[in-house]
Amino acid sequence: MRILVIGSGAREHALVQGLAQDPSTSKLFVAPGNTGMSDVATLKPLADVTDSQQCVALAREVEADLVVIGPEIPLVAGVADSLREAGFAVFGPNKAAAQIEGSKAFAKDIMKAAGVATAHAQTITPGASDEEIEAALDNFGPTFVVKDDGLAGGKGVVVTPNRVSAREHVDAVLAAGNPVLLETFLSGPEVSLFCLVDGETVVPLLPAQDHKRVGDGDTGPNTGGMGAYTPLPWLPENGVQRIVDEVCVPVAKEMVNRGTPYSGLLYAGLAWGEEGPSVVEFNCRFGDPETQAVLALLKTPLAQLLNAVATGTLAEQPPLEWEEGYALTVVLAAENYPASPATGHVITGADAPGVLHAGTARNEAGELVSAGGRVLNVVAKGKTLEQARQAAYETLAGIKLPGGHYRSDIALPAVQGLISCHES
Ligand code: GLY
Repeated sequence: MRILVIGSGAREHALVQGLAQDPSTSKLFVAPGNTGMSDVATLKPLADVTDSQQCVALAREVEADLVVIGPEIPLVAGVADSLREAGFAVFGPNKAAAQIEGSKAFAKDIMKAAGVATAHAQTITPGASDEEIEAALDNFGPTFVVKDDGLAGGKGVVVTPNRVSAREHVDAVLAAGNPVLLETFLSGPEVSLFCLVDGETVVPLLPAQDHKRVGDGDTGPNTGGMGAYTPLPWLPENGVQRIVDEVCVPVAKEMVNRGTPYSGLLYAGLAWGEEGPSVVEFNCRFGDPETQAVLALLKTPLAQLLNAVATGTLAEQPPLEWEEGYALTVVLAAENYPASPATGHVITGADAPGVLHAGTARNEAGELVSAGGRVLNVVAKGKTLEQARQAAYETLAGIKLPGGHYRSDIALPAVQGLISCHES
């Protein structure tokens, strides 16, 4: 099978590594990719991942049997639709179904129709008066959740007890021309559950937990994600099945009922509160950085699995197989990330096993340099979560990036037994 992967982050690096290990993969291309992937895949230039014509032309050029679309931006732009119309098997939802991530208001509508538990929400549209904005804020708090109702790559959400900060984010989003969604704050530990969805067939992967704030102890601004681990030792034994039954299957059925069946990866971001799982958000693609940990434990051949979703045969696949134990990933971020990351700094020690590249490039001298906010990920496995942590941090200690920083507490609260699900 000849496979083309679209995307360039550490998530795509994990996908490319997984696909390369599947004996049914005969040739692997990634566009635009990054320098870390060149040992297992052929990098192809792609000026604009949202340009359907460019993507179709590339799929034709490489004679792809399967196209895997990593990021949400091309999916929401409808690249999967164009590739399917051109006759390619595609892993990733069509534009209409990708709205589950592209529009928070659309996602709320689907959840309401499907009877899925989620936060109460109110939309403020651009042009709202000062009084209207203040009246809307009166309905929320003491913790304010202010979301950009558009694509923000996980960075458009501000969670704050400070009403002035909440108002500032409302104003910034409205000024950018996007609607704002205010939501009630969902308490309880967060869970990311990825499901392969093919119409009404839903197959969950292992549950994971992301760490979104930049600093240890969940301090500082939100980021695209600073680290993740899987599985979750504190989740109730029937936790995954409950999320599948109460959230993912009803949503998949609702999408089918609306004539926009979902095909691809449905990412449910949840909080496990007093009433059980409640949806914080959906994404229409694999999550980053959770994917890097989850795929590290997957034994089932990845190319055949993604191809089954793309060709509508997921229901015929055998149960997924997983390695025992735990996997963990830690993100090494550039100086000043997430505000204004410094780039061009030379990185050493990144040729260690378990390193996945995101914002990296080669300078004229051929040295590896930082080229983005989240520079690379270290992935490690262990029989216990603590062993996985130790292995990841040992590798990180050998990687040098001037001004680079990472969280030292990925999975630590879980190791210390500080996370629990309290249901009333
Ligand atoms: N884990 C956060 C994201 O993928 O958006």
